[in-house]
Amino acid sequence: MARLERQVAIITGAASGIGLACAERFASEGAVVIGTDINEPGNWQTIQDFSPESWFRTLDVTHADAQREVAQQAVEKHGRIDILVTAAGIGDGGPVSMIEDEAWDRVIDINLKGTYLSIKSVLDTMMAQRSGSIITISSVEGINGTEGGSAYNASKGGVVLLSKNVAIDYGRMGIRSNVICPGFIDTPMLNSIMGAMPEFKADVVRETKVGRLGKAEEVAGAALFLASDDASYITGHNLVVDGGYTAGHRHGVVELMGLV
Ligand SMILES: NC(=O)c1ccc[n+]([C@@H]2O[C@H](COP(=O)([O-])OP(=O)(O)OC[C@H]3O[C@@H](n4cnc5c(N)ncnc54)[C@H](O)[C@@H]3O)[C@@H](O)[C@H]2O)c1
Repeated sequence: MARLERQVAIITGAASGIGLACAERFASEGAVVIGTDINEPGNWQTIQDFSPESWFRTLDVTHADAQREVAQQAVEKHGRIDILVTAAGIGDGGPVSMIEDEAWDRVIDINLKGTYLSIKSVLDTMMAQRSGSIITISSVEGINGTEGGSAYNASKGGVVLLSKNVAIDYGRMGIRSNVICPGFIDTPMLNSIMGAMPEFKADVVRETKVGRLGKAEEVAGAALFLASDDASYITGHNLVVDGGYTAGHRHGVVELMGLV
């Protein structure tokens, strides 16, 4: 049996990368997917092939009214909201002395306030149902600092603690809240950043213990697990999906000892 049969899932950032991969995977597992994004998706067909009732709306996650409207429409059309995945986000930053205040505000608004507004838009429905699974997408940069990270790391660190607080506040109402911290995942966002800095990419791959970037589908698999009943006793958890990037440092010692 499909793992999300007839479950209703709202996914933000569903036009690209991790959000799109979650939309495809969830639809393939029987969910009705409501995707939102500030941009139109290049290809939403696969999702509708799996799940013809699924639909997409363009919206900006920083607009509370638009998020509330989508949640209301979801309830009108499908009667409930079982899952929320918050994948909308942008990458920007720079050392504090160099970042423009406007860029700081934009990153915090989209990544942190947008996540808060997404969660807020579904909570009334989930509280009335006494059930729901909320999965936020933070980053390994939300648990450790990164050179030049500033606004991005601050926004993603906020998402980690916001998710834990939601788990604390709403757990007794049957609502689970977990956060995924992906490492470096091969998506348009990462490529736009790393395209200009090939040395950065090589260094990241070296520090990633499995020796490669991640795939959006590998994050979607983790989100599927957290959304499903297999994770029924898991809440307030931070699931790191990073190919070992944060496991610790390697300095080539085992290679020197002859382990290949
Ligand atoms: N790719 C990585 O290496 C990586 C690592 C850790 C965390 N993440 C996080 O995963 C999430 C998805 O990123 P991705 O790599 O798939 O990037 P992506 O650029 O492919 O997808 C992000 C999506 O968010 C949408 N978006 C941006 N601003 C928006 C807004 N104001 N309102 C609505 N939608 C908006 C974009 O249009 C895009 O479709 C982001 O939150 C990102 O920070 C990515």
